[in-house]
Parts: sequence; structure tokens; C-alpha cells
Amino acid sequence: MKNSSVYDCSMIELDKHHRDRGNITVIENNNEVPFDVKRIYYLYDVPGGESRGGHAHKELRQLIVAASGSFIVKLDDGTNQTSFTLNRPYQGLLVVPGIWRELEDFSSGSVCLVLASEKYNENDYIREYNEFVNYKNK
Ligand code: TYD
Repeated sequence: MKNSSVYDCSMIELDKHHRDRGNITVIENNNEVPFDVKRIYYLYDVPGGESRGGHAHKELRQLIVAASGSFIVKLDDGTNQTSFTLNRPYQGLLVVPGIWRELEDFSSGSVCLVLASEKYNENDYIREYNEFVNYKNK
């Protein structure tokens, strides 16, 4: 999506069922998450000081959750930049297509859970920032 903006990305509050025995948060297709989930992956054991991401997607939509710990997600639409701190397992950051993202400042033991609207497809990636800016300006 060429004309998407960082302002189309937002934090979604997921429900949290609290029990004395602990908490549970549930995410269902087209309910809490506004797309059909086709793939789930998670990042973990990210060494301190490392960053992940550093790419954009043409069509893929994602919901990013800090299932444990915390990290920062920096978003860039080629014009505007914003960043979100993810540190609650009952919140998810919805990232629309056409947004450059960098994930940084992973706390020790953090888990970045990603729900994705498509299966893995390398052709959907833009991995060069200059190429991304050209794509957005076309
Ligand atoms: P990449 O998306 O570049 O990771 P990140 O943006 O989190 O830094 O993926 C890292 C590697 O994992 C790359 O070689 C592609 C592979 N990969 C898959 O095979 N399937 C997937 O679903 C994902 C997300 C990555």
C-alpha cells in the first residue's frame, strides 16, 4: 500500500481475563485482529542492543505483541515517523502495509509475537530504505 501513513497504525487493547491463577488474552480472526491470521511467528533471545525489522511490506498486515518483556517499534511512512513502546501482553500494535519498521531496545527475555495476514513471501518485502522511499513516492 503506497499511500498508507504511520497514523493508520494503532495500538489495539486486547481483552485480559484476570484470574487469581494468572491472566489470559485471546485473539480471534476478524475480531480483535482485523484480518485473517495466516501466520504466527515470534522473536526471542534477541541480544541486547540488536535491532530487528529494517524493512517494509507491500501488502502484509501485522499485529505485534510484546508477549513478554518490552521493546520499541519505530514506524516510518517515508514522511512521518512515530514510535511505540510495547510492554503489555494485552496490547497489540497494528501495522498496516507500506510502513518501514525497526524494532529496538529488546529487554532481556522479551518475546515479540507477530500475527500476520499472509504467509511468508520474500517478494512482499522492501529491504532497502531508498527503494521504500521511491515506492512511497511513485
Ligand atoms: P526477517 O523478516 O528479515 O526478520 P526481522 O525482520 O525480524 O529481522 O527474517 C529473518 C529470516 O527469517 C529471513 O532469512 C527470512 C526468515 N523468515 C522465514 O523464513 N519465514 C518467516 O515467516 C519470517 C518472518 C522470516
